[in-house]
Amino acid sequence: MAAAKAAAANAYIPYSGFRVGAAVLDADGSVTVGCNVENAGYGSTICAERTALVSAVAQGRKQPTALAVYTEPGVSPCGSCRQVMVELGPTMQVYLGNAKGRLVETSIAELLPNAFTDIDPE
Ligand code: THU
Repeated sequence: MAAAKAAAANAYIPYSGFRVGAAVLDADGSVTVGCNVENAGYGSTICAERTALVSAVAQGRKQPTALAVYTEPGVSPCGSCRQVMVELGPTMQVYLGNAKGRLVETSIAELLPNAFTDIDPE
């Protein structure tokens, strides 16, 4: 959560002003951070969670075991991020932190039950 909070300082947020930081812990012990990166075409904005997860993949980190998300109010990940989380780290624990130090522990299994994971469900 400390790494996620530090990454939030790098958020590129000219449109919403809403700062988000994320950090992925991999089974290899590495921590990969991300922040939200907004765009004038709002739909091209990338959330902090996906930034961190995609960066981890790009660095060859293939076993994400936990994801920390820091925001001032302590929000929960959006639907697009949940879908990416279940793809890349289906067993991940998830920690949601806020500026007051509240820490909510959950998991991607809890955040996205009955997820779409395969085009061939049999
Ligand atoms: N955002 C995230 O980075 N993660 C979330 O889980 C929710 C939303 C970002 C996207 C946008 O830059 C800003 O927060 C407001 O939606």
